[in-house]
Amino acid sequence: MAIRQILRMGHPNLRRVAQAVDIARIDSPEIKLLIQDMVDTLADSGGIGLAAPQIDEDLRVAIIEIPGGPTRYGDIEAMPLTVFFNPVIEVLDDQCEGFWEGCLSVPGLRGFVERPQHIRVTYTSAAKQTEELELRGFLATVMQHEFDHLDGRLYIDRITDTTLLAFEDEWLTHNSAT
Ligand code: NI
Repeated sequence: MAIRQILRMGHPNLRRVAQAVDIARIDSPEIKLLIQDMVDTLADSGGIGLAAPQIDEDLRVAIIEIPGGPTRYGDIEAMPLTVFFNPVIEVLDDQCEGFWEGCLSVPGLRGFVERPQHIRVTYTSAAKQTEELELRGFLATVMQHEFDHLDGRLYIDRITDTTLLAFEDEWLTHNSAT
């Protein structure tokens, strides 16, 4: 197992559009090792999602694992550990709702971001199958946040009201969890 260093905002490699994963290579030792490193790194960080560019790998893959129940994002729906290769998002309803987001690459900050709340995600699974998920609410926000990393975007870029950007400890002091 290997816990990898997470790039922080300011590192130029967080701003690249990542390369598609060659599906034929999903079960190669290199990709399996990468996924294991991502799982180890995410578990160590206490986060709920991690994209390969955050550990300086130029590939379109992200993992998400949401334990559910009370978390630092409030009381949320669980999602078992899932690996998304080459995910594509389709917005099914462009009505937006906001959540206070945080990011392992932007440590110590929280920002309020509004995003569409009904999406479809199409991706290739670790078993090389094409899968589809229809998601609403917070899970829709989580997917959009993670997959933005594959296009070199951070949630900071999507904040429309900069008065709603805060240090996490101040935010915790002055806001009740959503
Ligand atoms: Ni992030």
